[in-house]
Amino acid sequence: SARMPLVVGNWKMNFDHLEATYFVQKLAWLLRDAHFDYNRCEVALMPSFTSIRNVQVLVEADRLKIGYGAQSVSVTNQGAFTGDVSADMLAQLKCKYVIVGHSERRKYHPEDDANIVDQVRAVLTAGMQPILCVGESMEERRQGIELDFAVGQVHDVTRDLSDEEASKLIIAYEPVWAIGTGLVATPESAQDAAKAIRTDLYETFGAKVADVSRILYGGSVTSKNAVELISQPDVDGFLIGGASLDPEELSNICRLT
Ligand code: G3H
Repeated sequence: SARMPLVVGNWKMNFDHLEATYFVQKLAWLLRDAHFDYNRCEVALMPSFTSIRNVQVLVEADRLKIGYGAQSVSVTNQGAFTGDVSADMLAQLKCKYVIVGHSERRKYHPEDDANIVDQVRAVLTAGMQPILCVGESMEERRQGIELDFAVGQVHDVTRDLSDEEASKLIIAYEPVWAIGTGLVATPESAQDAAKAIRTDLYETFGAKVADVSRILYGGSVTSKNAVELISQPDVDGFLIGGASLDPEELSNICRLT
């Protein structure tokens, strides 16, 4: 597609700051060794809050073309919110992306649609790009309403955005049943969902937004299935959990994307 592919490693709650530093060095070395072209595919890592500063220092010191960001963010700017981290704090660390509404956050924390909209707003206001996660559970898939469900989750967020804000949004289609299960979606169903989401963006914002918006697939992506998935016209990259914890596997996926 005309859009620059994006490979995002979502480390979830893995790696302390020393392991994160080691990982980034190793990944950069593997990609350099493979003559990876950073102008052809963008790479980003999403460490725990405690590792972001270490990743930043390394990226700046070695002038690495690897982006990074956070896995969640507070909806408020500052104040008495024990345990929260604000979008401005992340922007200060030169984070480029923030994952919003990952199904694990929706499940283990009180992140409802209203909260997710506010997170997207906070990320945009601070000058970063939200990676909005959507996707159906097995139950919705059984009922055959998976496309409506995922599109509805996107629409809940986009209906409040201006064209300019929407053009900064990255969407990750992650069917919940495919996350960490080894049950990757077929290329056809990943394409169907990405296409349905892009069609909704087109109807809401027109081609100017829909044509540039990157829609990622997530859920059991590995170097074995990445090629088929990325060859789908509306799949613009990946949000990777398990396979992003192995630098060799992640570098292979980057090379294949
Ligand atoms: O954010 C990543 C997704 O939850 C996918 O995780 O690649 O381990 O299935 P996974």
